[in-house]
Amino acid sequence: MKIKILTLFPEMLEGPLHASILGRAIDAGLIDVELVNIRDYAKNKHNNADDYPFGGGAGMVMLPQPVVDAVEANALPGMRRIYMSPRGRTLNQKIVEEYAQCESLLLLCGHYEGVDQRALDLCIDEELSIGDYVLTGGELAALIVVDAVSRLIPGVLGSDESSADESFSTGLLEYPQYTRPAEFRGMKVPDVLLGGNHADIAAWRRRESLKLTRERRPELLNSAPLTEADREELRRMERADEILRALSSDGVRAERLDMFAETAYAKAWFSRIVPEERRRAARKQCFSGRRHVGWLYQAFEMGYAPSVRGEEAEAKFAAKPEDAALGGGAVLYLNRENLAFRLENPEALSHLPRLALLTAPDFSWSFARSSRGELYSYTKATEANIP
Ligand SMILES: C[S@@+](CC[C@H](N)C(=O)[O-])C[C@H]1O[C@@H](n2cnc3c(N)ncnc32)[C@H](O)[C@@H]1O
Repeated sequence: MKIKILTLFPEMLEGPLHASILGRAIDAGLIDVELVNIRDYAKNKHNNADDYPFGGGAGMVMLPQPVVDAVEANALPGMRRIYMSPRGRTLNQKIVEEYAQCESLLLLCGHYEGVDQRALDLCIDEELSIGDYVLTGGELAALIVVDAVSRLIPGVLGSDESSADESFSTGLLEYPQYTRPAEFRGMKVPDVLLGGNHADIAAWRRRESLKLTRERRPELLNSAPLTEADREELRRMERADEILRALSSDGVRAERLDMFAETAYAKAWFSRIVPEERRRAARKQCFSGRRHVGWLYQAFEMGYAPSVRGEEAEAKFAAKPEDAALGGGAVLYLNRENLAFRLENPEALSHLPRLALLTAPDFSWSFARSSRGELYSYTKATEANIP
């Protein structure tokens, strides 16, 4: 691809074009970036390229003659001629993909108060902004276009640097990335990423992408290509938020349990909620091969975690030493929606049947408590369960 950048300050661009991935791509001839100094086309005595604005006002305006001459002398047939400008349409990955299909681009950088309108009317196809803020000149904006476009040119990224599943190319924001060490300042990398199960990793990443996009850029979800499984996951996230709000309004501090990320944590809970005599069989079903994810759901769904009504729900379990490490509390599991929550303040547990009714009046609930090695479950929240 050929890119020509027309500027009054080529020195602002030279450094970045010779470093890192961009520098390598240019050296390898994958992209050809030419810097054109607009001042070289000025025909007045002092090579002036700007003058005071007609009508008064602060700053200087770039003269039409050097700009038009520079564009006309450098534009190639079919070249897309773009003026970097805060008034243009805002750059996004779709536009970057569109530009990457072009054989050549001309990027005109304004400076001072901008460029005489007649020059733009005469020789520019479109205006492009890089965001709703004002820069001193178009040079940094042009560099951003060059950088984003070149990443999509085949061969520019090495085989280990892919652009395929990044933010925006999937229509979503990217999932969190981690590298060595597996633990840094007490913060652990999610277990699923260390497990080596590619299907689990892909599922976790997709869910994290959905989660981040929903939190930070929910409007992207309207246009992102989503599968039915994605939509289901988004409905569950919605539901989980509703439940967390209901719990919090009742003074229960809770977090949604992410079984996909916390295998070790999940395993410890497993021994809390599945009675010893059923554990072997349950383990076989819920932890088949290296696939640990979803174990809690399966334990409840397959009936390994006892789930009986009201008073009968009480069952005794031996307290395990790891209980303290888990911080006590309880697991609240919403069967029909496959949602699990860790409740932090066990003193709030007496409200649970009422909470179940509050959050999901006609749904089936299971509730497991581990703080004293005891387990209580409710399959149905009914008026009768309310203390
Ligand atoms: C100080 S700005 C001029 C701003 C202009 N007076 C206005 O209010 O729209 C100087 C030059 O910086 C570039 N520029 C500034 N902000 C930009 C943005 N958000 N995107 C692209 N180019 C920008 C343009 O080339 C512009 O001509």
